[in-house]
Amino acid sequence: MLKYFVALLSMVLAVWTVPEWLTFPIYGNILNALDSWLQQPLSDVSSSPGRILTEDELSLYNGAQGSKGLYLAILGQVFDVEKGRKHYGPGGGYHFFTGRDASRAFITGDFTEAGLSSDVSDFSDSQIVALYDWLAFYQKDYTPVGKLIGRFYTETGQPTDALRQVEAFLSEGLKRKAQAQSEMQLYPACNSEWSEASGGRVWCSTMSGGIHRDWVGVPRMLFSPGSVHSRCVCIRPSDPVHSENRNLREYKDCPPHAESCRITKG
Ligand code: HEM
Repeated sequence: MLKYFVALLSMVLAVWTVPEWLTFPIYGNILNALDSWLQQPLSDVSSSPGRILTEDELSLYNGAQGSKGLYLAILGQVFDVEKGRKHYGPGGGYHFFTGRDASRAFITGDFTEAGLSSDVSDFSDSQIVALYDWLAFYQKDYTPVGKLIGRFYTETGQPTDALRQVEAFLSEGLKRKAQAQSEMQLYPACNSEWSEASGGRVWCSTMSGGIHRDWVGVPRMLFSPGSVHSRCVCIRPSDPVHSENRNLREYKDCPPHAESCRITKG
């Protein structure tokens, strides 16, 4: 029973917690990542060609007795993870990542033999962005060794079509993420509360929606285009960008400049 509970807890944490905190500085820098990626795509091998390894060669670097060292690959890029031996060495919690490219498992958290695969062809663009965060983590913290011949690099170390596809998804995903982030800055969510006795209330503060800012704003309903559904966002009424937005509506019986509005039905 405890085993199942721990497994369940791990899965929940894996999805919600770890990649976030483990790579927080990288996530925080998504726009810089986009910038640097645009300047040097993943497949740009010219700057650091390094060694070109076959899968058999890489498999010798799994830290087992008599093995040559500790390497792992992600998106076909090989890193020496010796300095993280406590994680990657035999007996370590992430030993299964060594001696192979298990890119898929960095995102799925499926560490079974079948899950430890480099196949990411069915990933969404946001999963590719999350995978790129892991790649950036290894580029920052570990020594690059070279490229792995296979799914992502040819025998001469050139990027394959599969890698080009990943790059296209990455580019799309980063653009979407940057767009979502700037939208969140423009339309931070309101605080809200509801109680049986006094009904609902929405209000703005300098931290509502998790966006720290030096303005409070006033609550408005923001409708998704063509939909009857809305969410409460905080806007600066003086910002001319909002006068054009036909999807914004004031709350009923709430003065236009009030920072807090009671929600009335209808
Ligand atoms: C998708 C799921 C997960 C993946 C792919 C993953 C991957 C990793 C990797 C690769 C490392 C080593 C980082 C390094 O080289 O320094 C690591 C470290 C660690 N992970 Fe995970 N992890 C996952 C889920 C979890 C969960 C669910 C927990 C806890 C409940 C956890 C706790 C830790 C801890 C405590 C460390 C050590 C941090 C340190 O000492 O620096 N991980 N993880």
